[in-house]
Amino acid sequence: MTFFPLERLHRLHDGYMQAFTVDGQPLLLVHTDGRTHLIANRCPHMNAPLTHASIEGDIIRCPLHRFEYRLSSGLPAREVFEAGGGRLQRYSLAYEGNQVGVYL
Ligand code: FES
Repeated sequence: MTFFPLERLHRLHDGYMQAFTVDGQPLLLVHTDGRTHLIANRCPHMNAPLTHASIEGDIIRCPLHRFEYRLSSGLPAREVFEAGGGRLQRYSLAYEGNQVGVYL
């Protein structure tokens, strides 16, 4: 596995959201409520990019059909969506020096 650095730690702040393509995989790095999350940049519903999603606390809302998911678990945020939504693909973050990244 290889470490892919994504961002310097001092650049993370609440509301931070940045899309990356790493090793051919679309990823979205998000920092909210003091926590950093790395997810696939694809909505589980119909694969829309989440680059322009809105975030409120732990909840990310897809801009296409407004399905909501919990960043911390990847699960749908509302029961009504569980049948058709699947869950966000989450990645474990890795830290090297002053950078956050991912091993792929
Ligand atoms: S593609 Fe995201 S809610 Fe439909």
